[in-house]
Amino acid sequence: MTRTLELEGIAFGGDYNPEQWPREVWEEDVRLMRQAGVNFITVSVFSWPLLEPEEGRFDFGWLDDVIELLHVNGIAVDLATATATPPAWLIRKYPEILPVTADGTHLEFGSRQAYCFSSPIFRDYALRLTRAMAERYGKHPAVRLWHVSNEYGDHVSRCWCDASAVHFRSWLRGKYGSIGALNEAWGTSCWGQHYLDFDAIEPPRESTGPVNSTQRLDFERFSSDAMLELFTAEVAALREVTPELPVTTNFMSILHDLDYFAFADAEDIVTDDAYPDPADPGAHIDASLNYALMRGAKGGAPWLLLEQSASAVSWRDVNVPKAPGVMRLDSYQALAHGADGIMYFQWRAAKFGPEKFHAAILGHRGEASRTFVECSALGAELQQLGALKGSRVVADVAMLLDWDAKWALAAPDSLPTNRLSWIGQARDWHRATFKLGVTVDLVRAGADWSGYKVLLVPNLYLATPELAAQLEAFAAAGGTVVVGAFSGVVDRNDHVHPGGAPGPLRPLLGVEVDEVWPLPDGQSGQVLMDGVRYEVHTVSEWLDAVDARTVAGYSGGELDGRPAVTNRQHGDGGAWYVSGALADAGMLTLMRRILDESGVPVRDGAGPDVEVVVRRGADASFSFVLNRGTTALDVAVPAGAAVLVGDAAASGAVPGSGGLRRLPARGVLVVTHDHSDVVRVVAESARLQAV
Ligand code: GAL
Repeated sequence: MTRTLELEGIAFGGDYNPEQWPREVWEEDVRLMRQAGVNFITVSVFSWPLLEPEEGRFDFGWLDDVIELLHVNGIAVDLATATATPPAWLIRKYPEILPVTADGTHLEFGSRQAYCFSSPIFRDYALRLTRAMAERYGKHPAVRLWHVSNEYGDHVSRCWCDASAVHFRSWLRGKYGSIGALNEAWGTSCWGQHYLDFDAIEPPRESTGPVNSTQRLDFERFSSDAMLELFTAEVAALREVTPELPVTTNFMSILHDLDYFAFADAEDIVTDDAYPDPADPGAHIDASLNYALMRGAKGGAPWLLLEQSASAVSWRDVNVPKAPGVMRLDSYQALAHGADGIMYFQWRAAKFGPEKFHAAILGHRGEASRTFVECSALGAELQQLGALKGSRVVADVAMLLDWDAKWALAAPDSLPTNRLSWIGQARDWHRATFKLGVTVDLVRAGADWSGYKVLLVPNLYLATPELAAQLEAFAAAGGTVVVGAFSGVVDRNDHVHPGGAPGPLRPLLGVEVDEVWPLPDGQSGQVLMDGVRYEVHTVSEWLDAVDARTVAGYSGGELDGRPAVTNRQHGDGGAWYVSGALADAGMLTLMRRILDESGVPVRDGAGPDVEVVVRRGADASFSFVLNRGTTALDVAVPAGAAVLVGDAAASGAVPGSGGLRRLPARGVLVVTHDHSDVVRVVAESARLQAV
């Protein structure tokens, strides 16, 4: 059954914590929400102790009033199941619910989300509350979305308590069936770790030295599955009462710990909480990669930005506010990347607690606060953008994300280098595509990749024959696959493939890796490509190009003259192997060449501060141009296009007639046009270039 969010227009609103305020403030809240254009509000995220003040006694009165107040004011509700934070009475009765770290430290009550996701006691109480919430509010006309728990994995994503150990053992029994199979998979003949039965197994706690890497990998898989099990149990309880209401749980961008593809399969709508650091000039580039995951998690379907900050957060060491215009740019960036809603944490700035310095739509100064003024202006703009809903991002390039491979490479020790990570490589590669003005989708193994021209695989340390076959089929069908260093090294059990890397990727790539040559911290190597030397960092490899053409070689050092970048043709398609971690300049040059040769248009000239993304709807397309730079841009708008959002008066163009439009620094332009049209972007100083 497809369950969609029934809401008019783009969702706009945020987390609301009325329990932190006296009732007289609620009326003012709702009046100002209307004034700001709010149409969707999240409530009861951390309200369990108020909703069930004593075991089994529910007090819904205050929440009834809040939901009714929102409803009569035309504001729809994203209702949290309130299970994110168990109350003190529950913890005191069953202290074993509290999580335990790998070194045996018991975490205390006093913050939030203090529970072990494997605890059967916690689960029983959480499900009872979920059912009570569903029965009480499931049919309320204001309630349009179930928000299960909150940010699974926030604060606690791994637990080493006794309940976790029991759960881990039963997960292992289910996976391996016999202890012999486990011993084989875990390679327990190494270092004398042989097990006689499952009961002897513990989660990978702190030990004397490096812990069995397959045990660790299984614990990563188990922990993600255990949280998913808790989530799906809540979803099932909700569906019994409200089978028609969509369900979500808010993601935390590309979180390492949870397999969000599996979570997305269990929910109706993907939602994300995004907190790009205003102090980081490259934060918007990483945000674009995060959003690629949000749409990729459900095959390109629109998603919701469920939380962002109106300005500063309160949890970094230094919490820098967003400069005027940046929150608006961030919001349009999410919309450009397929979001159908823009929400915030939170509606009203708190007076007390750890988040009292966290920005909100309504700051401590109230209506006069800059955040309220900027958010209200955005709210008014979004009301004009209803036509955008349901449209999907257009991309020629995809990047593969495989949680198993990511976890396996994240082992804290016993690798050639501990400095290499999937996310580090992915960000390096994505930074290059971003600078070239190319939109990238994140995709999973087994998905339909046929719509893409290029598939980027920044790292695939753990590679299975099935995935290798899918990559080969993609290349054979005319696609270009690009694979990064230290890929195809181990199998599903973290055992080195026979013959070494790239294991099952050998037919695709036509190369063989003899030895990995990681680069010590602070040292770099060099690659010679088309007569120019480029830096490599972190990792390089002693490579033989057996059935592939060498495109670039190492220069200097022990690897001098050996292949560094190779290419192998497969019919109309091909496969590249990049055996070293190229620093920015080399990555950009190589990426430009690969995209050019694969027929993907790249943009030059406007620089990394400009982003152009296109969404395609049933009847029209929408082009977003986001200018984070300090200079204005001229944007060529096609004739017949309509400007939906534009900052400045057209320079020589009347809306609807096309022509150049001046886009100021920190400006946003949204244009709707025929599918065949494109918007051209030019830096003032640069050449006109089509995008
Ligand atoms: C999120 C969380 C919110 C709020 C926010 C602050 O991780 O879901 O409840 O704490 O961070 O940035």
